[in-house]
Amino acid sequence: MGVTMTMPRRVALLEWARAEKAWILEDDYDSEFRYAGPPLTALAGIDGGDRVIYIGTFSKTLFPSLRLAYIVMPIAARAAILAARATLDRFTPVMMEKAVAELMADSTFSAHIRRVRKRCVAARDVVANTLVRASKGALRVEVPTQGLHLTAMLPRGVPAAAADRARSAANVVASLISEARIGRGDSDGFVLGFAGHALANLEEAAARLGRSARQVVDEG
Ligand SMILES: Cc1ncc(COP(=O)(O)O)c(C=O)c1O
Repeated sequence: MGVTMTMPRRVALLEWARAEKAWILEDDYDSEFRYAGPPLTALAGIDGGDRVIYIGTFSKTLFPSLRLAYIVMPIAARAAILAARATLDRFTPVMMEKAVAELMADSTFSAHIRRVRKRCVAARDVVANTLVRASKGALRVEVPTQGLHLTAMLPRGVPAAAADRARSAANVVASLISEARIGRGDSDGFVLGFAGHALANLEEAAARLGRSARQVVDEG
């Protein structure tokens, strides 16, 4: 969910941060997985190194248990960030850093991302199509052009308890929109990851969820 901010809004946000001397934390955790349209410039790239603290991770591009991430920070924020880092854990996994640096230097990493990106598009499309087909239209799928998750929305008025029932019956791991929403809303749905599993397993899981969504909708 969420939106891609237009360039005027991005510039306005940066101007606000400059005026207020505020920091913007740019959590850019999956922008390598962009499937359509021009690449998006990170706020940190527009900012020129002044107010944006940019955070990236290898959790999505490689794997989460690697526990490797990186920060590009304005000089003015450096001392505070290093102090905070030191209170958490003074040592980074140097061996892994060097191994990943090697993968990046010899272009293995970029080739890997290109390969995985294609797989993700295939996985996204299989999951989206299967959800729509198996739910006989009970789920409205928003097919994302970026990232590793999609949303599948139930019709308006289906209560959270029914969405929860469909999730349990399908035996899938998914967040419900109602679990993350702050304000009131009258439609619920599922946030579904489509990376990290074989296509056949994703298809099967999507079929189960589609069928159970249809069932809770039919039951009213
Ligand atoms: C919103 C968000 N930011 C960042 C990350 C990456 O976190 P980490 O590098 O600790 O795995 C994730 C991972 O799922 C995430 O969902």
